[in-house]
Order: sequence, then structure tokens, then C-alpha cells
Amino acid sequence: MATSRRAFLRTAAAGAVAPMLGPAVLDGLERRLEPFGRLPAAAAASDEPFWAEIRKVFPVPADYVNLENGYSSPQPAPTFEAFERHAADINGGLSFYMRRRKDKDLDAVRAQLAELAGCPVEELVITRNTTESLATVIHGIDLAPGDEAVMCNQDYGSMLEQFRQQSRRRGLKCAEVDLPLHPASDEAILDVYARAITPRTRLLLVSHMINITGQILPVRKIADMAHARGVDVIVDAAHSFAHVVFTVPELGGDYLGSSLHKWLCTPLGAGLLHVRKEKIAGVWPLFGDSSRPAGDIRKFEHIGTHPSWTVQAIADAIRFHRLVGGERKEARLRYLQQYWTDRVRGIPAVYLNTPGGARACGIANVGVTGLSPAALADALFDRFRIYTVAIDTGPVKGVRVTPHLYTTTAELDALVKAIAALAA
Ligand SMILES: Cc1ncc(COP(=O)(O)O)c(C=O)c1O
Repeated sequence: MATSRRAFLRTAAAGAVAPMLGPAVLDGLERRLEPFGRLPAAAAASDEPFWAEIRKVFPVPADYVNLENGYSSPQPAPTFEAFERHAADINGGLSFYMRRRKDKDLDAVRAQLAELAGCPVEELVITRNTTESLATVIHGIDLAPGDEAVMCNQDYGSMLEQFRQQSRRRGLKCAEVDLPLHPASDEAILDVYARAITPRTRLLLVSHMINITGQILPVRKIADMAHARGVDVIVDAAHSFAHVVFTVPELGGDYLGSSLHKWLCTPLGAGLLHVRKEKIAGVWPLFGDSSRPAGDIRKFEHIGTHPSWTVQAIADAIRFHRLVGGERKEARLRYLQQYWTDRVRGIPAVYLNTPGGARACGIANVGVTGLSPAALADALFDRFRIYTVAIDTGPVKGVRVTPHLYTTTAELDALVKAIAALAA
């Protein structure tokens, strides 16, 4: 690809701005991070020189502060460059690649992803996003009229819509529970779910990290409680995978979906679906693949022709993720969140919709009494050039603030000042 075209694509894809680094960018980054090699997570959280190196490989908007990284992540330069390279390589010889090499590459990437997820490769498949992963389950399980499902009104809208469609289509009864924004204990959360379960309940949907507030739910305890009552558990891990450190089996769910373009920082259109081995045969594939045995997870893999270079780039994103370090990433994201929430807590008229401590990580939600979420988000952007997103869903009224690994504490200082000014 000609240099000017490559540069153009990069700028267009980055939406932005800061110059990206050269082709051997990951190797260069590896060298620059060598001095920090053994830096433990707790110390790394506030080690600004370490994160300054990481920031250099992210496309940072030049004319505003992006604190809406919850929608999706920009790819760091090493991943984006690899993604472009894969696309260019495949484009010359597309049919040959698709027929002769794609499956081998897909298997290799799937194995790497399963290793990161800590689950057997026979239980994991690559999808395009959480929506597709969880749709496969929600629409693929045989349900009878009168069967029931439990979920929370803070779960992601399109998951709730899919369940509501199952109500209209198959007579499923949905119970949407209301969770506390600041739970006193895990038991307070468990109790809400337990009370919604009846003898007809078949499924329970739980978000590992609630997208509008950032609250992390005690999924393992919820899953154990649900299993004891004969209920299968679907985990929405759209925001938690590669954000907080966990293995999929330790959450204890039966089905789990995530979007890799969020915190694993892959190109858009990459997700994963995990189904516990003994549950695979009981789920119909969304796209009707009959070429695989019912118990083979790869029956969910057939989604028609789509860009294979996105799948290849998952391996590059995993390499970048491991270079940063999962523990260091989690520690930094929590540190950044607590950096600004600690400074706005206590300002008159400011309230937080996100619990403290280990019940949240990078995402948090803040409101100002007397300002609607939309007015607050608009004021932050129009007056202070700080981009967030307004959330006005059920009990959650505020703006969601999502820093990223490239966010600086100076940018968060600007956020704190802006919130204080708007609350005054
Ligand atoms: C909790 C949750 N689930 C599911 C989704 C859907 O993700 P995608 O659009 O990548 O399918 C999102 C997206 O933000 C989310 O936050």
C-alpha cells in the first residue's frame, strides 16, 4: 500500500490526529517497555512514565478529551498496522486464502483466545460481538410458553429487547429486577435475583460489568445460587473481558459473550462466545450450520462471508494486551476511575451512580442535581471539550465516564474542574 494511502487510512480510522508510529511499532514498544518489565500491577497503576509510553501508540483525539471509551476502543498502532497488513495480504488472493488458509488461521486464533479466557478451546468460538454471541443463546435455546427468564433493568438494552422478543414470539415470561446502585453486600444483590426465580425459571441473564454504571456483579455467587435452583446462567461480559482479570470458568456461568473491540482493543467486529461443553448440544446455531455435530462448538462459527483479517488481528491484540499486562491494565483503569471519582465525591450537588472499591473498575457514572444527563454531557463537551455519554435509564441518571489506558491524570483533573464548575 502506498505510504500516502496508508497514512490516509490511518488518520481516517483513528478519527484523528496524533501521528501513529512506524511499522515495527510493537517491537519498538517492547523495547521501550523493557525497563518496566517486572513492574507489579499495584506500582504500575500510578506509574505515569509507563503509561506515557502506552499513550504514544494510541490515536488520541487532538481537539477534545475522549472519556467515552466504553462504546468501543481505538486500536493501538501495533494492532491497527497488523490489521491493515492482514487485509492487504488477503486481498491479493482472497479466494485462495478463504478456501485454503482461513480455517487454519481461525483455529490458531481461537486457541490463543481460549488460552486468554482460561477455558478449553472446545468451549469457545469467535463471533462478531456480544450481541451476536448472546443472540445465539437467547434465540437458540428451546423455550416453551410459560418458561421464565430473569434479568436486570440495567442490563444492556438490546439483550433485554431480545428477551422481550422471545416473550412475544414464544410466550417467555421475563422478570426484570431492580438492582441497588450502591449494594451493601454481595448478598443484597443475590437476594434480588433469588426472589425473582420461580419454579418456571429457565434462564438468568447477568452482566458481569453493568455498562451504564460500571458496577461489577458477583457473578460466581449469582451463578451458584441460580444453578442450585436449576436455572441456566448467561453472562454478559461485554465490558469485563480484558478489562478486569478473570477466567471464564471461574465465573461459573453456562454461556458467556463478550466484545473484543471493547477492552481487548481489536478492530471492530470481534467477539467471543463461550458455552459450557455439556450445554453446546442444547443450543441451535443462529445460522443453521448442520455440517458440525450438535456438540461441536464450531457449529456457531459459520456466519457467512466476513472479513477474516479482523479475526487475524485478534492475535495481534492479544499480543499487545499481554505486553501491557492484564493485571497492570486492570489496576490502571481502576486507578484512573478512582482518581476522578475520589475528587468529585463530596462536591455539593454531585452524586455518583457507581459503587466504590472492587465493585467497579474503569467505568463510572456521575450526575449533578438539577442537570439532566443530556444537559450535563452537552455542557461537558460544549464548554470543556470533554466527551462523555448521557445515561438516562431507569434509576441511572448521569453521564458515563470511561477513561482508557491513554488517558492522563491531567485530563481527569480537567474533568473534575468542569464538574465542580457545573455543580456550582
Ligand atoms: C453490557 C453490554 N452488553 C452488550 C453490548 C453489545 O456489544 P456489541 O455492540 O459489541 O455487540 C454492550 C455494548 O456496549 C454492552 O455494554
